[in-house]
Amino acid sequence: MSEQRTSIHGQWTNRTVFILAATGSAVGLGNIWKFPYITGENGGGTFVIVYLLCIALIGLPIMMAEIMLGRRGKQSPINTMIALAKDENRNPHWMWLGWMGVVAGFLILSYYSVIAGWAMSYVFRTGGGMFIGVTADGANRIFTDLVSDPERLLAWHSIFMVMTMIVVARGVKNGLEKAVTLLMPLLFGLLLLIVIYSMTTGYFMDGVRFLFTPGSIDGKGILIAMGHAFFTLSLGMGAIMVYGSYLSEDHSIVQASILIALADTVVALLAGLAIFPIVFANGLEPGAGPGLIFQTLPIAFGHMEGGTLLGVLFFTLLMFAAWTSAISLIEPAVAYLVENKGFNRIYASVWIGGLTWFVGLGTVFSFNIWADKTLSIPFLFEDLTFFDTLDYLTANIMLPLGGLFIAIFAAWVMSERSAKEELATYPKVYSVWRFLVRYITPVAVIVVFLKAVGAI
Ligand code: PHE
Repeated sequence: MSEQRTSIHGQWTNRTVFILAATGSAVGLGNIWKFPYITGENGGGTFVIVYLLCIALIGLPIMMAEIMLGRRGKQSPINTMIALAKDENRNPHWMWLGWMGVVAGFLILSYYSVIAGWAMSYVFRTGGGMFIGVTADGANRIFTDLVSDPERLLAWHSIFMVMTMIVVARGVKNGLEKAVTLLMPLLFGLLLLIVIYSMTTGYFMDGVRFLFTPGSIDGKGILIAMGHAFFTLSLGMGAIMVYGSYLSEDHSIVQASILIALADTVVALLAGLAIFPIVFANGLEPGAGPGLIFQTLPIAFGHMEGGTLLGVLFFTLLMFAAWTSAISLIEPAVAYLVENKGFNRIYASVWIGGLTWFVGLGTVFSFNIWADKTLSIPFLFEDLTFFDTLDYLTANIMLPLGGLFIAIFAAWVMSERSAKEELATYPKVYSVWRFLVRYITPVAVIVVFLKAVGAI
């Protein structure tokens, strides 16, 4: 057995805090902003089914693997991979897996922060009564006005980045617990209220049908669904690994993973059920793109009793959910700088945050002055803006690739004895996990990749 390591960054006070923190990382813009709009763009039904299958067969086993690796390595993902590879007498090049995660997290946060800025600005738009009695056209105009103004986007993006840097500088373990225990249930309750509103639109069943009736899907759609399973569970880039490194040995990884994945999935489905009935009731386009929730939810808030207050609460909570995800996106990088470069947390957060902020300018501009500047990569995608390109490369390529190597490491490189020490509290679940992560998960990821580029 490897020597028992301890984390220099401290550890979670108990298992509940870990589950809350990881749920805070998982539940975010991915569930409420991204899931509905990519579901809309990819035709609903089949896309949702593929996404759910990916959560169960790929996401869940990889989440267990990622927490396990983090807990054994007890360091930032880069150093964890070096340490674990050494334990098994393998090549330290496994650290590149950690590096890819650091880069992915950094790129994701650069655009995530801009979208979180939209949520913040909507707190004020809703609070100012802008949506009272609003029509679909009106809501659309208000959204377009926002994103076509780079200065506004820049201001909100900057505020959100500073907020993120402050929490990361103080250490992710401080304050996260309270934030998540209070906010998650509230967010959940509010989503339920919007779903109830959606039931009154007369189009609820159209929404349900759109979300769950199978239709057709192509290779690219499957890749996007799989990429989203990684994105929404915060997998493949070391966020969950670094959170796992602050977890003590006596807690069940299996139970925690199931709870986190379940909470995450329920929030996404509720968001879908809230949004699509409003889309159909107002003759909107499900494939409207990244603005979808900002063009639909205000209509609900503008027409329901107490809508202004609910709207303010909703966008505030969405901002908080984004915040608890954002901090996990740069924690691997910050932990690494603290471990290897002797930076203190404040210095490390300012560096990483500042750099992320800068790259975020590209996303700010891609909704206005760079809106017609697009990029194509043969076999992968065509005509994507800066923002869409970053999103595509990170969510659909880097995260699944990271996940693939995490699965390979956990199932093929790490000795069975080590894996058993971490996960064998439920022998049956352990066998299923091992089978999935050894065969099903890696093969599924590779097949989806090949299918997306048209190789099969
Ligand atoms: N899971 C977060 C969300 O759904 C985003 C995220 C991705 C966070 C990867 C950390 C790592 O919003």
